[in-house]
Amino acid sequence: TLITTFSENLIAWHARSGRSGLPWQGNRDPYAVWVSEVMLQQTQVATVLERYPRFMKRFPTVQKLAKAHIDDVLAEWAGLGYYSRARNLHACAQQVMKEFGGQFPSDPVMLEQLKGIGRSTAGAIAAFAFHKRAPILDANVKRILARLFGVEGAMQEKVINDRLWKLATDILPVKPKDMPVYTQALMDFGATWCTARKPVCLGHEKKCPFEKSCQANLSNQVLSLPQKIVK
Ligand code: ADE
Repeated sequence: TLITTFSENLIAWHARSGRSGLPWQGNRDPYAVWVSEVMLQQTQVATVLERYPRFMKRFPTVQKLAKAHIDDVLAEWAGLGYYSRARNLHACAQQVMKEFGGQFPSDPVMLEQLKGIGRSTAGAIAAFAFHKRAPILDANVKRILARLFGVEGAMQEKVINDRLWKLATDILPVKPKDMPVYTQALMDFGATWCTARKPVCLGHEKKCPFEKSCQANLSNQVLSLPQKIVK
């Protein structure tokens, strides 16, 4: 079934067509993973590629970030936008020092208690840094799941959101060691193939590995899922 084969097919897709060589990939240092995920939340990959190495050089450990003056953190964040992220980053570093003895927790439920870390970012950190079988559900993943499983209804409705988290959990790889590549593959697939306006299934060049099982593709609803927000 789609649920049992999805992760393997997605990982195979990633080996052929995913993004590789990004500086935060293959890193199991939870601090390094956390900084990259917070930057990538609302800043384009190309910009993060320019700024991430600099930030890590300036603040190489959670201790150093926690001890830094907030003005220096904000100055280093200049140009990345959404400055509340820099304030949360600094506050979170102090929280990790004070409440967790300088070690990031590995449990996504604990990670979610930290400043600036939502449920999806907590899942990403747990998967990348600790190989935990924790799901992510950002806008890209919501789109992939809504299409694959033909989930209708507005994404911000609680029942829909709950259904998507359940699906995101059901399709996880069985082996914890596959979690980092799987999580990156999901992000890359949403960002580059199963895109909002020009998904590859509607083009002529590339063949989506899920075209025969994707509910939206089978029922010609790819561009109408996920459903647009009507206010
Ligand atoms: N967006 C959020 N996390 C990301 C990651 N690890 N790689 C690429 N884009 C992302």
